[in-house]
This record gives sequence, structure tokens and C-alpha cells, in this order.
Amino acid sequence: MLMSPIIGHRGARGLAAENTLASIRLAAASGVQWIELDVTLTYDQVPILFHDADLNKLSNARGLLAKKRWQDLQRVRVYSPRGSRQPSQPMTHLAEAVALMAELGLGLNMEIKPSLKGQGPETLMKAMECLKTLPGLPLVISSFDQRTLQAAQQLWPTIPRLMLWQRLPSDWADSATRLAVHGVGLDQRHLRPAQVAVLRAQGREVYVYTVNSIKKARQLMAWGVQGVFTDHPNQLIQAGLLGSSVRLPFA
Ligand code: G3P
Ligand code: MG
Repeated sequence: MLMSPIIGHRGARGLAAENTLASIRLAAASGVQWIELDVTLTYDQVPILFHDADLNKLSNARGLLAKKRWQDLQRVRVYSPRGSRQPSQPMTHLAEAVALMAELGLGLNMEIKPSLKGQGPETLMKAMECLKTLPGLPLVISSFDQRTLQAAQQLWPTIPRLMLWQRLPSDWADSATRLAVHGVGLDQRHLRPAQVAVLRAQGREVYVYTVNSIKKARQLMAWGVQGVFTDHPNQLIQAGLLGSSVRLPFA
């Protein structure tokens, strides 16, 4: 299996400010073995963790992230989830995040999320530079952007790749074969059991986002999916969804 059945989404988005060190720490404390993080570039090409193209909704700053320098972004605070007792958190450089993950023994599903259209391959290159010093870090690269996956295939062919879609397109098999992806990541709202069956029959692993209900996670696993991205890894793990046979693929 590429990853584990429960993957912390943006760290543990339901527990602390998403895509921050606090979020990674709380995900690890809840018992996950893998975490998904969104990686994007600042104006001065620094790879940082952030989901949105603009700062407005998730932080106390305003404007497009692609227009801001890292030096200025270090003053920005990322909001904690509503109802959480955690304080807001500073924005996080990818290098800080991976150093912490290595210390905690976590696997990284690195989603490349270009802050500007067409900037995916560049984002990937800058991100991979940060990971150079951690050759043992369990890593899966994912993206909605096919050019990014193509660059990953050409430059780091041995690192597993996950192609993301909201809805599985009718020509998914052509893209998956062309880019030789090991698995797909799909939105739970649109996924049907027959699609999981076809994907599995064609040898792809299936990971599903964002699954915050224990009942839904159980249903998806019964359909044959390999893992779910969740904002609340603590709840799914407490419900026993991690299973007992999980092992890291690179251990
Ligand atoms: O990689 C799964 C999931 O993170 C994709 O959606 O928008 O939360 O990055 P999003
Ligand atoms: Mg993501």
C-alpha cells in the first residue's frame, strides 16, 4: 500500500491551523502514520504550506499569496479551526515541516498546489530541493495538475504519484497510464462503488478526501478504497479504522 488507511488532511485540519507545524504535531499525536500537506510558492519562490491562492479566508492577511514575499509572510497568522482552543499559527516553510515529520516518523503525501496557473512543475522542483536532505522520508507526490505529475514522473520516477480529481473523468485510464500514476485521489461526494471496483481492477490504489464521518469511512473501505484523508484523524483512529496490519511501504 502506498500510504496508510487514515491520512491527516492538511496535517489535522480539524484540530489546529491547517498546514502548520501545530497541525502536524496534533495529527501525529492522534496516531496517524501519513499526513497530506499542500505545497505552494511565494512570490520569491519559497515553498510553503498553504491551500488557497489568496490569504483572505485562512489567515489574518489579505491578497494573493503569489504576490507576497516569504519575509513578509512570516508575520502572517493562519487561523485555527472554529471551535478549537488552539491559537493561530505562523505560516510554515516546507523545510520546517519535513524536518518535524522526519523527527515524528511520519510519511508525507505532498500535494503540489500551484499558487499561479502553470507553476506546478516549478513548485515541485522547489519542494523537492527541500526534501534533498531527508532521503528516507516516506513520500507520495500528488496533484490535480497533470503537468506537475508529468514532471515528477520524468525527474523522480521512483517516487509514487497520486493523481487527484474531483470527479473521475471518463478518460481517467488514459491519463493514469500516460503518467504511470500508482493511485488516484477522489472527492467522496462524487465517488461511486463501481468506480472503485474499476480502478482497483486496473491496479490503481484509491484514496478519498475529505472524509470526516466514521460511517462514511467504513463504507468507503468496504468498497475497497485504500485510505481516506480526514480533518479529524483522532476520531477515525479511535473508531478503530486504522486497522492492525498497517505498515509503511518504505520501512
Ligand atoms: O489530496 C487530497 C485533498 O487535499 C485534495 O483537496 O482541496 O483539500 O487540497 P484539497
Ligand atoms: Mg490538499
